[in-house]
Amino acid sequence: MSTRPRTPAPATPAPGKLPLPELLEMKKRRDKIVMITAYDAPAARIADEAGVELILVGDTAAMVMLGHESTLPVTLDEMIFLTRAVTRAARRPLVVGDLPFGTYEVSDEQAVASAIRMVKEGGADVVKLEGAGRMLSRVRAIADSNIGIMGHVGLTPQSATKLGGFKAQGRTGVAAKQLFDDALALQEAGAFAIVLEAVPAPIATRVSAALDVPTIGIGAGAGTDGQVLVWHDMLGMYAGRTPRFVKRYADIASEIGDAVSQYADDVRTGAFPEEQHTYGISPEELDRFEAAVKKT
Ligand code: KIV
Repeated sequence: MSTRPRTPAPATPAPGKLPLPELLEMKKRRDKIVMITAYDAPAARIADEAGVELILVGDTAAMVMLGHESTLPVTLDEMIFLTRAVTRAARRPLVVGDLPFGTYEVSDEQAVASAIRMVKEGGADVVKLEGAGRMLSRVRAIADSNIGIMGHVGLTPQSATKLGGFKAQGRTGVAAKQLFDDALALQEAGAFAIVLEAVPAPIATRVSAALDVPTIGIGAGAGTDGQVLVWHDMLGMYAGRTPRFVKRYADIASEIGDAVSQYADDVRTGAFPEEQHTYGISPEELDRFEAAVKKT
């Protein structure tokens, strides 16, 4: 079985966009690929200016943006809405639109239709789905429709219940070999890159070395070709449980909390608004206004 990467889409990238094949070149040069999630235009702009290669509009939006307990409830319409906001602001990074649960499992036709909506309506450059096995056929169908498709194995949150919860995968020899085979099969099916989530570092390193396409790790150690973190996790903006593989780079929620408390205090004490936050009117116009009010 050949595991050569098939050449993925899109046909006409926007000017200034990172060309998709550049990710393969980065892997060859051993340059690390940076991916981060984003769900709105301001975050996309910041990520773009920070020089990331990939922005994932992940279905983690269900939890970190929409307040659900898992990723399962988010709909394709909601994901397209968020993706559209991101693609308006992201100029250079490739925007990966995540296909949510229930939008690709039924058939190849369903998967292609969802991927096309994500590209046409959301403006995504490429899409992502979770799993291998029966999903390999979906990956092949999407790649054959000229849409770049990213795979995702290891801990796949959409099947967390089946996996026994949000826990590391591939921790026995047999499970690790299955993960290795799945990653190769995803490459063969046409995936241009593969997310490895919550996988022992030596296994992720071995998988990454065996693949021609890049791996993007999250909780998979330093041996993958790139890394991804969830925006709200790394910035300290998510109040729920944070996995051990998250490195927190800021504590934005408490900064925002301090700012909102200060604002509330200022409103209550009259310290805000001040003169510079206020529009004036000339004394003559004010007199005219008063005269007009008196008449009524
Ligand atoms: O939905 C998401 O944000 C993801 C990442 C955790 C890889 O799939």
